Amino acid sequence: MLVDRFGRIATDLRVSLTDRCNLRCTYCMPEEGLAWLPRESLLTDDEVVRLVRIGVERLGIREVRFTGGEPLLRRGLVDIVTECAALRPRPELSLTTNAVGLARVAETLATAGLDRVNGSIDTLSHERFETMTHRRRLDDVLEGLAAARAAGLEPVKINAVLMRGINDDEAPDLLTWALEQGYELRFIEQMPLDAQHGWDRAAMVTADEILTSLRTRYTLSPIGDVERGSAPAETWLVDGGPQRVGVIGSVTRPFCGSCDRTRLTAEGEIRNCLFARHESDLRTPLRAGADDAELASRWEMAMASKAAGHGIDDEGFLQPTRPMSAIGG
Ligand code: GTP
Ligand code: 5AD
Ligand code: SF4
Repeated sequence: MLVDRFGRIATDLRVSLTDRCNLRCTYCMPEEGLAWLPRESLLTDDEVVRLVRIGVERLGIREVRFTGGEPLLRRGLVDIVTECAALRPRPELSLTTNAVGLARVAETLATAGLDRVNGSIDTLSHERFETMTHRRRLDDVLEGLAAARAAGLEPVKINAVLMRGINDDEAPDLLTWALEQGYELRFIEQMPLDAQHGWDRAAMVTADEILTSLRTRYTLSPIGDVERGSAPAETWLVDGGPQRVGVIGSVTRPFCGSCDRTRLTAEGEIRNCLFARHESDLRTPLRAGADDAELASRWEMAMASKAAGHGIDDEGFLQPTRPMSAIGG
């Protein structure tokens, strides 16, 4: 079992499959990209599946989410999903993607055993999309999300980050669109995880601001803490329901106290928190011939030392050295 000294139990594994990406969201990556991880340091597909299997069989992992960078850029994704779907007890399998390229593979992924997809859209304007991602791919994203819905990868949840002066006037329009499409929209407070270290708390659009903006068009009523469980998103019923909208207020409404996540990087390191300053290497012992029991025990040790919270508000807070694109959100 993956338990820390505050008694939190990790049952949700997030696996980053690549640090590469085909977009350049300004809150994540510089336009020129980053120095990508060398191929030999990446876990192979078999190594990924073995570690997921250890998590599921020995450590109580019940949900596995594949992330990136952009996980659709990982060639072995479909095979990895197929093998993870054969594990027992079968974990819930999901994908967090920018949805570029999803149209082509949504059906194949569903057949392989993927259960659901979270995608990202920060704006419905082609111009703003290009400003925010340095790419003209909004139509591909819209098509990708529709393909996920058509393939039954539901609920399709959509993440949106608002940036002051760029798309912070778009919250109600994004919600209207998501309600029409049948997607569950969540707004995310921008976090200090960009590779450029350009995060500015004063510029961050807060959960309160987002809610105020949404309430100019919709009535929102809370669903309550019991149903929320350990989910990062706080959720509201829109105009009495059944449709919903969420806000992931990592900075102003932290949810670290109920965190149930453990993370595996594409290089085979365990991160016990999105904001961890220390990682535990499983790839080296794995390649040196460690058995399942030893790898499980190292993973347990890595989680035991998880900090109480992300500490963004603490004096001397230091952003993790690994950027968001190499952690997987
Ligand atoms: P579901 O609600 O189960 O679909 O998943 P999710 O919301 O956890 O997944 P997703 O990958 O869509 O993440 C949405 C946002 O939540 C991203 O910006 C993540 O970085 C953020 N997030 C996910 N896990 C954590 C976490 O442990 N801590 C913080 N602060 N943010 C997180
Ligand atoms: N702050 C908040 N969310 C971010 N994402 C990427 N970088 C940041 C950041 N600095 C979001 C993406 C995607 C999810 C995986 O994380 O928009 O929806
Ligand atoms: Fe790519 Fe996601 Fe980073 Fe955007 S937030 S550049 S889609 S990894």
